Amino acid sequence: MRTILEPNMETALNKQVNAELWSAYLYLSMSYDMKDKGFDGIASWFEKQAKEEFEHAQRFMNFIVSVDGKVKLEPIDEVRQEWNSPKDAFEDTLLHEKLVTEKIHGLMDMAIEAKDYATQSMLRWFVDEQVEEEDAVRSLLQALVVINDDKAAMWMFDKKLGKREDD
Ligand code: FEO
Repeated sequence: MRTILEPNMETALNKQVNAELWSAYLYLSMSYDMKDKGFDGIASWFEKQAKEEFEHAQRFMNFIVSVDGKVKLEPIDEVRQEWNSPKDAFEDTLLHEKLVTEKIHGLMDMAIEAKDYATQSMLRWFVDEQVEEEDAVRSLLQALVVINDDKAAMWMFDKKLGKREDD
C-alpha cells in the first residue's frame, strides 16, 4: 500500500515548514544584530543556526513530497530585530526552541492518533534534534551566566562560538 498524507497532517506539516523558515529568519536577525554589536563569533554561530533551520524546513518539504503531498509556502512573519546582549539573544533562543519542541510533540501526537507511521518515523529525528538543540543552548546560557560582566571571558566566548562546526 502506498503511503498517502492525510489532508490535516499535510496542513500541519506545511505549517511546520513555515515555523522552521521563521526560525531561520529569527536566527539570521540575531546573527546580524550580534555582528552589529561587535560579536562576530556569536554572529557566525547564529548564521549556522539559521542554515540548520533552513535544512529543517527542507527536511519537512522533502518528506511532504515523498508521501505524495503538496508543499505550500506561506508568508513569513516579521521577526524581532534587536537584543540587549548575547545573553538576551540566547535566552530568546532557548524560549523559542522550547516552543518548537512543543510543536514537534504536537505533530507526533497527531501522527500517532492518525496511525500515520511514516510521519511518526520522520518526526523521530526532530524529537532527538530538539533535545540536542535545547541542551546546546542551555550550556551556552550557563557559560554566559558565569561570564557575567567579564569582558575578557566574553571575548573568549565569542572566539569559541566563531569556531562552531557545521552540524
Ligand atoms: Fe528547527 Fe531549532 O528547531
